[in-house]
Amino acid sequence: MSSNRTTFATKLGVIAAAVGSAVGLGNIWRFPYEAGQNGGGAFLIVYLICVLLIGMPLIMAEFILGRHSKSNVGGTFKKLAPNTGWGVIGYMSVLASFLILGFYSVIAGWTLEYIYQAVTNGFSGLSAAELKTAFTEFSTDTYSPLIWLGLFLLANYFIIVGGVKNGIEKCSNIMMPLLFIILIVFCVRSIFLPGAEEGLRFLFQPDFTKINSNVILRAMGQAFFSLSLGMGCLITYGSYFSKETKLGKTAFTVSTLDTLVAILAGVMIFPAVFSFGISPSAGPDLVFITVPNVFQRMAGGYIWSILFFLLIAVAALTSTVSMFEVVTAFIHEEFNMSRRKATGWVVGVTAVFSVICSLSIGPWKDYTILGMTVFDLFDFVSANILLPVGGLLISLFVGFRLDKKTSYNEITDNGKLKCWYFNPLIFILKYLAPVAITLIFLSNFGVLG
Ligand code: TRP
Repeated sequence: MSSNRTTFATKLGVIAAAVGSAVGLGNIWRFPYEAGQNGGGAFLIVYLICVLLIGMPLIMAEFILGRHSKSNVGGTFKKLAPNTGWGVIGYMSVLASFLILGFYSVIAGWTLEYIYQAVTNGFSGLSAAELKTAFTEFSTDTYSPLIWLGLFLLANYFIIVGGVKNGIEKCSNIMMPLLFIILIVFCVRSIFLPGAEEGLRFLFQPDFTKINSNVILRAMGQAFFSLSLGMGCLITYGSYFSKETKLGKTAFTVSTLDTLVAILAGVMIFPAVFSFGISPSAGPDLVFITVPNVFQRMAGGYIWSILFFLLIAVAALTSTVSMFEVVTAFIHEEFNMSRRKATGWVVGVTAVFSVICSLSIGPWKDYTILGMTVFDLFDFVSANILLPVGGLLISLFVGFRLDKKTSYNEITDNGKLKCWYFNPLIFILKYLAPVAITLIFLSNFGVLG
């Protein structure tokens, strides 16, 4: 089976696909709202530490597993540790995928509505307060979000059926660089808004008294979410890497670019938040009620706004495709189902989850579990619990169970490349990352003080 498995076609394709998975709504929608709710600059510092000490090593761990096993997330643990409990990682990954795809697709649908609004000039002349009202009316409506959601899922279906090479790679190659450029333009505009300094101070001047165990948990969850970690997404993509792909360099590039995009999103949003008198802790609505205000103040705002939401939608698409691929490859390879049929199932189940998420914001918003709507619950449980637990297990697996020689050979291309960080990496995977994740959990869920 492994001999006729596809690989990414070019070097740029590898990077673009991995960056395409990492960069998405996590950077532009989730990072600003989590930072806004959890201490701004203090959150950013903890976030950066998590990316560096836990995120990058875990990206390496997933890449090592994927390229070595040449298999989907379920098959990986079946091959490398047959008939052991490690196989549970595969099933946890499937659960995490569905939960994330559930709420993520809803937000992706919102970006489509915003493309439509941009094209039909629906924002023009609205005040900050009116833009907020318009957003609330749309997002709590029963049907309009569902229509966009359906369209978005359909697009995913066709890309996943088309397969890795044609679908994912081509999309990412063009769109990712464009997104980068346009973000920089918006940052510049945002920085020159009246009162912008307050926003920059909020993001870059950490108030360390704001750091508590909840802030740390959320920063860690955000790091996992943004880097696509902890549910075998990078195992799956790693399995499509060719022998020539340099794992260390790819991991470094992906995490650096991903972090840069998140910071750019922050620089675009927080000055505008303060300039327009929006609350930084507005939650998941934050980007949607902030960004249209910026366009109104830009020369050529009409074109900019269309481009912006288009690129966000594509960034979301390259991310959801990577999540769909996790489950599709799993079912297709482990249960001998055709790729088309597997895709149909996966998209179908996601449709059910996401419709529930969408309705939980509007007509069903009074039904809450642990004080959260279904949408918030899926978001919280996946990012802050399932992904870190998955990451913990993957870390332990590569640290203790996988032969050290195997890891070394994957990273150094059988000894051909130099690797100064091999021993520290193994140390982090064995001890530092698992202990850190465990402590963060314990202090949050009331066991430690
Ligand atoms: N990282 C993506 C984002 O920031 C979302 C994503 C894609 C993801 N694949 C994932 C999150 C796997 C967790 C696990 O938008």
